[in-house]
Parts: sequence; structure tokens; C-alpha cells
Amino acid sequence: MIDLHLHILPGVDDGARNMDDTLGMADLAARSGVTTLVATPHSNQMGRFENFCSPALTAAFDELENTIKKEKIPLTILRGMEIYASEDMDRKIRDGRLTGLNKSRYYLVEVPFGAPPAWIENRLQDMQAQGITPLIAHVERYYCVQDDPMLVFNWLYAGCRIQVNKGSFFGRFGSAAHRTARILMEHDLITCVASDAHRPDVRTPWMRDIRDYLTDHAGEHYAHTVLTRNPEKIINDQPVLLHGRPIARKKKHFWQ
Ligand SMILES: [Fe+2]
Repeated sequence: MIDLHLHILPGVDDGARNMDDTLGMADLAARSGVTTLVATPHSNQMGRFENFCSPALTAAFDELENTIKKEKIPLTILRGMEIYASEDMDRKIRDGRLTGLNKSRYYLVEVPFGAPPAWIENRLQDMQAQGITPLIAHVERYYCVQDDPMLVFNWLYAGCRIQVNKGSFFGRFGSAAHRTARILMEHDLITCVASDAHRPDVRTPWMRDIRDYLTDHAGEHYAHTVLTRNPEKIINDQPVLLHGRPIARKKKHFWQ
């Protein structure tokens, strides 16, 4: 499996606090069947976790990679970031301060939980105008998506791709995120499922449980597609073919 979204870089955001956390997370990921992961520190969160491309960030990635190698944990570590969407994001991308997953066309982007769809769509279009394919992080957690999951179908067909957190399937982000993740799975609207892990003990990078869950609920082929095949295309900068079906709206009765 390939985990495209986790906070394993030590001491740069609210993920791993130090190298002990990092090694604990790496060990769990490898033992649960992950072979490759992309370290995605929070970035562009002004005044909180800025983490723009810089020699310091490169040095932190180098240290992460060397330590995992030295500890002989069988994992390939790739570089990325989870970009917090902002109105000046396109300028920062043009200036080379923000980057994609493993330097691909796929940029992992998160939006404020309560952002309205029109604002989100403007940010996605800003990115696409630069030839970027936005990979929308934990889409099932945004309130507008929970209210209207068909938004995800529209964003996919507009050229974006979709990431869902494994914890949402287990109810760890509340019932609305759980219900939304299930609806998206049933309509094939998920490009990839990732851990978004922050620690070795909370929101962990253990991926075997989600592989079992997806295999039980949607079949082995599906689990392979969203946990291995699509993430592999993303890190190799290859196109991920369009997927997904529209969500039929429930008929309203005349008294509703
Ligand atoms: Fe994250």
C-alpha cells in the first residue's frame, strides 16, 4: 500500500513531535503493509505551520529519510505537503514555495471546514489554471460536502481527484464524516484513502484495518485501487482515470 497523506516529519506541525514518534509511525506503517509513504507536513497555514519550500524543510526531509534508512525500516519515503488553501496560494505556487506530491502535478490541498462551495471552487480553479491537479484532502470532513456529497462528483468531473481519511470509515471524525465516506465509496467517488496519521498512538498510520474494511465492504479490487493503484499513479505523475457515479437525490415527499 501507498500512504499519500501523513504528518510524520518530526517537529514541524501538529504531527510527530520528535524522531521517536516518527520512528514509531514508520514502524507501524511498514508492519501494516505500507511500502511507500509521502510525508505531507501542513503548509501555508500562516502564523501556525507555514512550512514553505526552503533549505530547512529539505534538510528535515533528508534527515527523515536517512534515519528511516539507518533504522532499516523497509519504507520508501517521498516528499510532499498538505497545502492549506488561501486566496494568494496561486502566487505562492508560481513562486515555487508550494509543491506537489513527489513533485508531481498532484497537489494535496485542504480547505477550511466551513468554506462555501464557490470559494473552494475558485481555489481549485486557480490551481488548475497552472496545470495542477488538486487532490482534495479528507473531502468527507467539509461541512458543505456532508450537506451535499454531489459536490464531490462535480469536482471530480472538473478534473480534481479525491482523498478520504481511513479514520472516517471507523467513525473517528463523527457520524457525518462517516456517512459521507460511505456514500462516496458506494458511488466510486474516492480516488485514494490515506491515513492522515499524526502520531503512533492517535490517528495512526496502521493501514491493514482499512484494507480489510474496504475489502469486506467494496471488494478486493476496490481496496487495491484506492490504496495502491491510484496512489502509485499519483506519485509517478500519471493520469488517474476518471471514476465515480452521480448520487441520486432521494425523492422528496410532498409534505417535506
Ligand atoms: Fe493532514
